[in-house]
Amino acid sequence: SSTIRCEATEASVYRETVETINLDWDNLGFGLVPTDYMYISKCSQDGIFTKGELLRYGPIELSPSSGVLNYGQGLFEGLKAYKKEDGSILLFRPHENALRMRMGAERMCMPSPAVEQFLNAVKLTVLANKRWVPPTGKGSLYIRPLLFGSGTVLGLAPAPEYTFLIFVSPVGNYFKHRALYVYLCMITSEEVSYGKEQTNRWKYAFQEGLAPINLVVENEFHRAAPGGTGGVKTIGNYASVSELVTSVEQVLKAQKRAKENGYSDVLYLDSIHKKYLEEVSSCNIFVVKNNIISTPEIKGTILPGITRKSIIDVARGQGYQVEERLVSVEELLDADEVFCTGTAVVVSPVGSITYLGRKVEYKNSGIGVVSQQVYSSLTSLQMGLTEDKMGWTMK
Ligand code: COI
Repeated sequence: SSTIRCEATEASVYRETVETINLDWDNLGFGLVPTDYMYISKCSQDGIFTKGELLRYGPIELSPSSGVLNYGQGLFEGLKAYKKEDGSILLFRPHENALRMRMGAERMCMPSPAVEQFLNAVKLTVLANKRWVPPTGKGSLYIRPLLFGSGTVLGLAPAPEYTFLIFVSPVGNYFKHRALYVYLCMITSEEVSYGKEQTNRWKYAFQEGLAPINLVVENEFHRAAPGGTGGVKTIGNYASVSELVTSVEQVLKAQKRAKENGYSDVLYLDSIHKKYLEEVSSCNIFVVKNNIISTPEIKGTILPGITRKSIIDVARGQGYQVEERLVSVEELLDADEVFCTGTAVVVSPVGSITYLGRKVEYKNSGIGVVSQQVYSSLTSLQMGLTEDKMGWTMK
């Protein structure tokens, strides 16, 4: 009964599952919950993607000599669908993801689906899995489009066939354990007293995003170099995650050390001067000093985050001066407030930064006025709680 027109759909394949879900919506984290359907379309050397189809979510067949397994020829995207209080479902800026995938595909020598196909495929996948979209304020449906070389190669070359696939999973807070801590601090805090509306926002915040994190600045390893692929969402950028290390033993050691010290993620510096901020392994970073917001400029080594871009506009709309420029690690340590942005992390205030063994803690566990304001404005828009004057949401 949907109004989505997508020739790719095979009615016989897609049959909506209507049984209600037995899921603890109040305790969603950011872990995979398998859902009903995934979307798949393929493209061979002619560069034309086939009519996609919805298949039951599950394992896919992949040749051992596929381009993605051998040479890492692959990209991913991330966006979210939110349920409004009236039951309708909103996507947040899906065009931006479609365009970013096209840009990344160009860099990775891959063909990419047209914007229209991308959008149709996203809508179709969300509708086929709509029973998995969490109730308003309990989280969102995370949408993960993938594009990868599924054709076989042996010598180094672009794969002769590509797969465009989308799967989804209901998610809550990316840094869940931190969110619970913050929520408890909020409701027991004597310093702050909130009205009913604000209390609801905090409840939503607990479910979805506002949770301070502790970052450690990585001084030895770098995420990206000029001329590399740091500016596109290629899978290889994320493979080394928060501990860029070279052996299993080191991975385990670093993870153990990071856990013991309570770090949530790693912040990377530029690889030339080793003093300017780049990004956190899963998100972009902002620093606030004297009410001026600064964030590292996009110059090829930093992912052009859609949440980053949205927050810049939201903050400017609220009257803040926002600068995109080189931001040094000294400025970070001297900041009034620091926060991270990303589709998965939404807005995550930074509670502390550790750099070369020195730990700097920010006021109010990192929950500052600016991060609260931009978080609140962004999520209200995404959930359809405030009027979307920017035209960023899509029903
Ligand atoms: C996202 O925020 O959507 C991302 O792709 C980051 C990922 C590491 C979860």
